[in-house]
Amino acid sequence: MLKPHHLTEYTVYLTEAITAKLNPVQDGRPSGTGRLHYATRAAEHRFLLHFARSRGAPRVPHFPAYPRSGPAWMVDAFGLEARQRVVEDFVRSQPKLVAIPGSIRTYSANLAVLRTLADHCSARVSVDIFGLHHIPPYNADLDTDTPPGAVESLRAAIEQSDGLIICSPEYNYGIPGVLKNALDWASRPAYNSSLKGKPALIMTASTGQFGGARAQSPIRECLSATLCRVVIRPQIAIPRIDKKIAGGRLTDPFTLSQIDEAIEDLIKEVKLGKGAAP
Ligand SMILES: Cc1cc2nc3c(=O)[nH]c(=O)nc-3n(C[C@H](O)[C@H](O)[C@H](O)COP(=O)(O)O)c2cc1C
Repeated sequence: MLKPHHLTEYTVYLTEAITAKLNPVQDGRPSGTGRLHYATRAAEHRFLLHFARSRGAPRVPHFPAYPRSGPAWMVDAFGLEARQRVVEDFVRSQPKLVAIPGSIRTYSANLAVLRTLADHCSARVSVDIFGLHHIPPYNADLDTDTPPGAVESLRAAIEQSDGLIICSPEYNYGIPGVLKNALDWASRPAYNSSLKGKPALIMTASTGQFGGARAQSPIRECLSATLCRVVIRPQIAIPRIDKKIAGGRLTDPFTLSQIDEAIEDLIKEVKLGKGAAP
């Protein structure tokens, strides 16, 4: 007989799996929502084993093995809605981040870093990458109540996010023009734009030995002018980035661990802004 605490247990199992505590999903498995799906399935599988044993089942019923689909009686027991609700609540509770690459090159290494980050951290945050290809050069004449569509989208993406990640190369010791231009658009109306109070993490990556470190301060300075809350932490400047990308993904474990820590710091900053204990 199903009891209310069984549903609570089920919820805990799913949530733990999604946050990868119970069943860390390794690289090589599908990314993004696919990853979430597999993690959820694995949790259901474990839960069913636990559930059956805890009810003293004389023998554990047959469960199709992970990652094949779960048994129908699971759905009968709890209803699809319960499962859906757990997953949706979790996704909704994740900080929503917008990631902006400072390069519009098709095979941009900075874009690759952000794509990797989005997948790698998908259990903790949801990341949308916003490319700057369609942002026109800043022109105050166009900065009216009806700005260019791409600018409107950029401002809305920032507005609707809980935080911002920038990953940019250094161009001639400074901010690449496309990034500075986008930040100029996003910064209006001055001191009251979508960037105001937004937690932001800065990362740089370059083929050079300093990892674009000389662009860090100018980006930080620029964001300060918009009243962004730039996360104060050790800088992430990834040198020799061309040697750390394969198949459009960042493959360097050390850099990935640095990024992990930085994302934790950004999440703390997001929580601080929402008044929760970090
Ligand atoms: C116009 C230009 C200026 C550059 N200036 C620098 C620089 O000052 N320092 C540096 O480390 N790399 C510099 N680079 C190299 C870039 O950091 C490198 O090409 C980087 O991978 C570009 O990022 P992406 O792969 O995301 O496009 C420059 C590249 C370009 C095209």
